[in-house]
Formats: sequence, C-alpha cells, structure tokens
Amino acid sequence: MAKVIAGVATSHVPAIGVAMDQGKTEEPYWKPVFAGYQKSREWIEELKPDVAIVVYNDHATAFSLEVIPTFALGCADEFQPADEGWGPRPVPVVKGHPELAWHIAQSVILDEFDLTIVNKMEVDHGLTVPLSLLFGQPEEWPCPVIPLCVNVVQYPPPTGNRCYNLGKAIRKAVESFDKDLRVVVFGTGGMSHQLQAERAGLINPEFDNRFLDELIAEPEAASRIAHLDYLREAGSEGIELVMWLVMRGALERDVEVINRHYHVPASNTAVGHLVLENVSD
Ligand code: DHB
Ligand code: FE
Repeated sequence: MAKVIAGVATSHVPAIGVAMDQGKTEEPYWKPVFAGYQKSREWIEELKPDVAIVVYNDHATAFSLEVIPTFALGCADEFQPADEGWGPRPVPVVKGHPELAWHIAQSVILDEFDLTIVNKMEVDHGLTVPLSLLFGQPEEWPCPVIPLCVNVVQYPPPTGNRCYNLGKAIRKAVESFDKDLRVVVFGTGGMSHQLQAERAGLINPEFDNRFLDELIAEPEAASRIAHLDYLREAGSEGIELVMWLVMRGALERDVEVINRHYHVPASNTAVGHLVLENVSD
C-alpha cells in the first residue's frame, strides 16, 4: 500500500526562485536563507520519495477571479511552469501522477471533501519554488508531483480546520492506494507577510514561531486559528499558512522534527521551513 512518510513545510517566495535561477544563492542576503535548507536537501535525496503532493496556492496565474476553486487537485500527466510576467522559470516540466491523483479525488470526494478536478493547469512559484528549495536545479524533478491548489487569494479561503481535516482525508486516500508508494506532502506559503496597503512589510516572528511550535506539537490548536487572527497577527498573506495544515493533517499525531529553519527577511516575507517525519515509521 502507499503511505505518507513525511511532511515538508516551506515558504514559496518568488524571489527565492529568482535567486536560484540567477546564481545568487551565495550572496550575503540569500546565503542564510538557503543554508537552512541544506539538511533538508540531503534528507530528501536520501529518502527518495516516489511521489510529492504539493499543497500550494495559485497567485492569479492559472486561475483568475473568473474561476476560484477552493481546492483544486491536478490530475494531469504534466504541468507547465507558468509565465508570471518575466517568462516561465527555467525549471523542468512538473510531471504528475494521474493514477494516484484520481484515486485521491475519488477517495476524498466520497469522504465529502468536494475538490475541483483539474486536467490542465500551469503552476506558478507557489509550487515551483518549494521544489527548487528541496531538489535544487536538476534536469528533471526526481519524482512525480500532484499539485493541490488552495484558494487563499480571494476571500473566503477555507478554514485551517478544514485544511487540517482535508490532510487527514488525503492520508486515508493515500493509504488505500494499492501500490507501494512512499509519499511526501508539502505545505507551502507563509510565513507572516503582507504585500499591500498600510501594513505592507509586516512580519511577526512571535506569531510565526508559536505557529511552528503548535504545528509540530499541538496541531489541533494551530488548526483553530481564525482567519481574523491570521490577518491581524501574520498580515494579509499570512493566511497562506492554512496550507501547512493540510500537510500536518496528512501526518500522524506525533512527529519527529528533522529540520526547522526560520529567517527574516526574504523579500517581504518571513521564511519558515519544517521537515517532519511520522514517529511510528
Ligand atoms: C512574496 C511572497 C509570496 O508568498 C508571494 O506569493 C509573492 C511575494 C514576497 O515576499 O515577495
Ligand atoms: Fe504566496
């Protein structure tokens, strides 16, 4: 049977992708950001997962205000990196895993999580930057990727609790797939940041570190954080953190922390990163 073996949480700041694409990772501004990912890169290279489910948000790239799915699961054979205004990032095409993706769609929809099934979708920095951070700059991504896109751009986004429970349903779906696949779930976005209006530039390390602590040890508490609390404490784009709860819900209650990294600033954002493994494995 397939199994979720680990979770990865990471910010997906577009400037991180640009720094990698333009060879700037050793510059003083970026060096400490990337240094915190080194251990995770070695870990995932050794782990060699068979599939990655990447929970991310589209930033008005594949979807616009014309169509706003709350949860959209990528079931296609492949997903092209999008042109976000500066041309598509020079990263490999993202190959999907349609068989597992359709199985997840069936399982979670019958479990009453009404995902949108997407058979054609471009993927933006929300998905490609986390892949670059963990896998570096390979010719091909080392494993197939199932994109799970969450609306955190247009109010109302899903609650943290809904995301946490969707993660649990995804775990159940994976564990009922009859092939021996070792699956890693990525939750992306965050941490605190606000890109607009009077509070643009807001960063709140106290909130972020409490969120990291709770996500690890008390995920139910993290799942109950209200939208207004994200907005007030973590800024308007801090709401991206609900996507980390999908990843956490897909893991067991008790997890081992393989890596934890927090660095301010990266572009307008507090960069946060966790690698978690199930204790029982
Ligand atoms: C930034 C962060 C994001 O998560 C994003 O989607 C766009 C920009 C930033 O910090 O610049
Ligand atoms: Fe974002």
